[in-house]
Amino acid sequence: MTLWLTGLSGAGKSTVAYALEGRFRDAGISALVLDGDAVRAGLCRDLGFTPEDRAESARRVAEVARLLNEAGVVAICALISPFAVDRKRARDIIGAQRFIEIFVDTPLAVCAERDTKGLYAMARKGALGSLTGVHQAYEPPAAPDLRVTTVDQTVAQSADRVFAAVQPRLAPNLGFAATD
Ligand SMILES: Nc1ncnc2c1ncn2[C@@H]1O[C@H](COP(=O)(O)OP(=O)(O)OP(=O)(O)O)[C@@H](O)[C@H]1O
Ligand SMILES: [Mg+2]
Repeated sequence: MTLWLTGLSGAGKSTVAYALEGRFRDAGISALVLDGDAVRAGLCRDLGFTPEDRAESARRVAEVARLLNEAGVVAICALISPFAVDRKRARDIIGAQRFIEIFVDTPLAVCAERDTKGLYAMARKGALGSLTGVHQAYEPPAAPDLRVTTVDQTVAQSADRVFAAVQPRLAPNLGFAATD
């Protein structure tokens, strides 16, 4: 399966994604995080933050996730992926059966307060022109497979909630599925 975490910068996608990766590995399941920052340092280093480049970045990540899934590896994608059309395309590439859209639903005010990368401060100073939620729209998923909150929750609680929700879908891999 592919877990596709979408949300604003600072929402907690990477944090939850890496915690989840640990949960899967502890359960003996191969999982790999495809994180926006890491991807932008390599696979997508030729791309910027225009809507077109964001679309291409999401497409490439989806193609890699598909390959991982074909190899039996859980892909955990942590990408702002602000546009619904790009997430829809990712679902089409990966296959609806395998694609789990997870909305890391942290309000903009909380993300700006956290400002883990200093991006919101830079935006306030006018030093940045493409920040999602400030200069560019964030289109929240209308019907995410899962919504996770990170407000008043520890990282462990947020990750546990996602892991518990997707665990039933892993049953066939673990050999627990009823035979039919
Ligand atoms: N329950 C929680 N789940 C996830 N993160 C949390 C939670 N509570 C607090 N945080 C904090 O919120 C911040 C989230 O930052 P993180 O880098 O994960 O965001 P992101 O969504 O990956 O942003 P970006 O799109 O810029 O990469 C971290 O500092 C993390 O410690
Ligand atoms: Mg991140």
